[in-house]
Amino acid sequence: MAPFTGSVPVASVRWADRALAPSRRATLAKRQASTAAPAFGTALTEHMVSARWSAGPGWHNGEILPYQPLRIDPATVGLHYGQSVFEGLKAFRRPDGVPVLFRAADHGRRFQRSAARLAMPALPADDFVAALSALVRTDEAWVPHEENRSLYLRPLMFAADTSLALRPSTTYHFLAVAFVTESFFGSTAHPVSVWCGRDYIRAAPGGTGDIKCGGNYAPTYLAQQQAADHGCQQVIWLDAAERRWVEEMGGMNIFWVRREGGRDVLVTPPLTGTLLPGVTRDSILALAADLDLTCAQRPMSLDQWRAEAASGVITEAFACGTAAVLTPIDRVVTEDGAWDAGAGPPGTVCARLRDALVAAQHGVGPDRYGWLTPVR
Ligand code: COI
Repeated sequence: MAPFTGSVPVASVRWADRALAPSRRATLAKRQASTAAPAFGTALTEHMVSARWSAGPGWHNGEILPYQPLRIDPATVGLHYGQSVFEGLKAFRRPDGVPVLFRAADHGRRFQRSAARLAMPALPADDFVAALSALVRTDEAWVPHEENRSLYLRPLMFAADTSLALRPSTTYHFLAVAFVTESFFGSTAHPVSVWCGRDYIRAAPGGTGDIKCGGNYAPTYLAQQQAADHGCQQVIWLDAAERRWVEEMGGMNIFWVRREGGRDVLVTPPLTGTLLPGVTRDSILALAADLDLTCAQRPMSLDQWRAEAASGVITEAFACGTAAVLTPIDRVVTEDGAWDAGAGPPGTVCARLRDALVAAQHGVGPDRYGWLTPVR
C-alpha cells in the first residue's frame, strides 16, 4: 500500500483487512442472490473504509472495518456547516468473474476537486482507488454477477473538529460504504417524466454546482416535491441568471439527440462551472464517437427543446449518471404546458449508448480507455 502523499504531511497507512471468515461470506453471497430488487442505498455490505486526517500527521489510520455506526459528537463541525463531500462509483464483474472498479481514478480526482472547493485536504487519487479496491476485495462476494446490478461505492469525507467556530476544520474523517444496486430507477431503462419550474435553482455561477457536496442535494428536495405534485418523477434545472438554459436533470447530466444534416448529433450543455462534470457524461461522449455519433457541447434552451421536440428535430432526450446509468425522458411539464420530449422508440441512440456503456463497465471487450481497475 502506497503511503498518502501530496500536499499533506505523509503518514504510513495500512488498509487493515479484518475480513469475515470465508464461510460467512458464502452465506452473505446467498443472501445477496436472494435480495429481490434492492432499493437504492439499502443493501449495504458488511465492511467500510475509514481513514483520518489531521494537520501534522496528515492521512492516517486507513483501515477496513466491519460496517458499524459512528459515535459522533454533537458539535462535529461537518454536521453543522456542510463541510462534507462525497462520490458515487461502481464495481462490476468482468466476464471472467474478476471485480472491476469503473473509472475509479477519475472519481478520485473529482473527489479532490470537491474537497479543494470546500477547503478540505486532498486524498491522493491512488489512495482513493486503493481504499475502494480494499473494500471491494473484502466484500467481493457482494459484487453482483447480474448485468443489471452492480456494487455502488459511496466514499465521503466530512469535517471532524468538535468546535463550532466558522472556519475550516483541522481534522477530517474519510469513509466509504458499499451497497448492491440496480439502476437508480430500477432494473430497466423506463422513461421518466420531468417537471421544470422556475421557483428554485440548483446552482449559480461561483457556487458549488460543479462539485459533489451534500449541500447541493437537500435544497433540491422541495423542487422534487413540486415535480411529484405535477405527476413527474424528476426535475429539470435551468440556469440561475435567465431561467432559460437547461443545465441538468435531478442529480444527473442531460443529453439530446438532434437530426442535423441527415445525421444524429448528440448535444449536451457545456461545463460552465454550474454543472457537475459527470464521469458518465464523459464516458458517453467517448463512446458516442465510437458509435460514429457526432457530439456537440452547446447550450440548449427550454424553448428550443420544446420547439424542436414538436418539429421532430430533437428525436430523443435522456439523462445520465453513475446511479441512473442512461434514462430516457419522455415528457416535460412546465407552468406553460406539457410536451412529449422524444423518448424515441426501442433501438434508440440512448439504448445503443447504454449498451455500449454497460459493456465497457463490465469489461466486455478490450478496455480501450483504461477505465477499469481489476480487484483481485
Ligand atoms: C450518482 O449518480 O451516483 C449520484 O451521486 C446521484 C445521487 C444518487 C446522489
